[in-house]
Amino acid sequence: MEEILSLKKSFLKESKSARSLAELQQLRVKYLGKKGLVTSKLKTLSTISPELRPACGRAVNEVKRYITEELRKRETLLKEEEHKRLVLSEAIDITLPGKFTPFGREHPVNKVLSEIIGIFVSMGFEVEEGPEVELDYYNFEALNMPKDHPARDMQDTFYISEDVVLRTHTSPVQIRVMERRRPPLKIIAPGKVYRCDADISHTPMFHQVEGFMVDTDVAFSDLKGVLESFIHSFFNVETPVRFRPSFFPFTEPSAEVDIGCTFCSGKGCRVCKNTGWLEILGAGMINPRVFEMVGYDVDLYTGFAFGMGVERLAMLKYSIDDIRLFFENDMRFLRQF
Ligand code: DAH
Repeated sequence: MEEILSLKKSFLKESKSARSLAELQQLRVKYLGKKGLVTSKLKTLSTISPELRPACGRAVNEVKRYITEELRKRETLLKEEEHKRLVLSEAIDITLPGKFTPFGREHPVNKVLSEIIGIFVSMGFEVEEGPEVELDYYNFEALNMPKDHPARDMQDTFYISEDVVLRTHTSPVQIRVMERRRPPLKIIAPGKVYRCDADISHTPMFHQVEGFMVDTDVAFSDLKGVLESFIHSFFNVETPVRFRPSFFPFTEPSAEVDIGCTFCSGKGCRVCKNTGWLEILGAGMINPRVFEMVGYDVDLYTGFAFGMGVERLAMLKYSIDDIRLFFENDMRFLRQF
C-alpha cells in the first residue's frame, strides 16, 4: 500500500517539473508503459494475499486513473502555453509605423535619352549600338581623320594603347553599321563617349546620339527637315532653328545647328553670350571619303549625319547650368525629375 502511495507522490513531483510535451511522454512511458512502474505493480497483485488483494487492486487502479487524468491535464496546459507563445511571437503590432521603401526613378540623362530615341523612332529610325572601347580605325581613321590630322586635337582622347581608344564620339557606329549593312539606312546610335576634359560644361564621360540616313538621293533639305522636326518636338514648335557653316572631316558640307536661346528667348543673355542662339549639334552630308572606306558606290549613294550631346540638351531643356550635377548623385537634384 505504501509503495503504491509513494508512486503517486513521486509522479506528482516529476510531473510538476515536466516543461515540454516530450518530457510528459517520457513520464507516461515511465509510469504507464508496458514495463512502467504502475503496470508492474498491477502485475504483482497476484502475489499478494487474497484478503489484501481487493484493497490494493483498487488503490493501484486509482493511482493509474489519477496519473492518466493528470497527464491529460498537463498536456492540455502545455499545448495552450505553446500556442500562446506562438501567437505572441507572430503577432504584428499594427500601431507601429510601416517600413519605408524608397522608390527609384529614371536618371534625368536617361529620361532625356529615351525621349530623343522615341522622337527618332517615331520618324522611322532604327537604333544601333557600338563598343565604348573602340579601335583608332573606327573612331578616327575611317571617319577621314588620319593619324596626325589636326581635327583629332578637338577631341581629348583617352588612349588605351596606340590603336585602341575610349570612343570620343558615337560617329564610329556609322562605320560599323555601314560595313555590315547596305542602304537604305535610317539609324540612330545612342551611347556613352569619353574625353579627357572636366569643367562646368564638360565631364570625362557623357552621352551622345548619332544619327544618319543613307539612300540613293538623300539631300541637305532632308537633313534640315529631320532636325527641325526633332527640335520642335523636343523643345517647342516655336523654337527657331538655324544652320551655320562649319567643318567636320566626315561630312561635306558641314553645319552646326543652333536654336534660339531657351534662357532668354533670343533676347541675349549670359548663357548665349548675348547672341540669342545656342549651339546644340553638329551635322552635314556624309563625306564621300567615308563611303569609300566602307565600300559604298559614291556615285549611287548620298547621306546625312548628325551628332548631339544628351547632357547639353537636358541642360537646355531643364535650365541646368552645371553638367557635373548629373553625376554627383545628390538626391535633392535627382528627385526633381
Ligand atoms: N562626332 C562629332 C563630335 O562628337 C559630332 C558630329 C558632327 C557628328 C557632325 C556627326 C556630324 O555625325 O555629321 O564632335
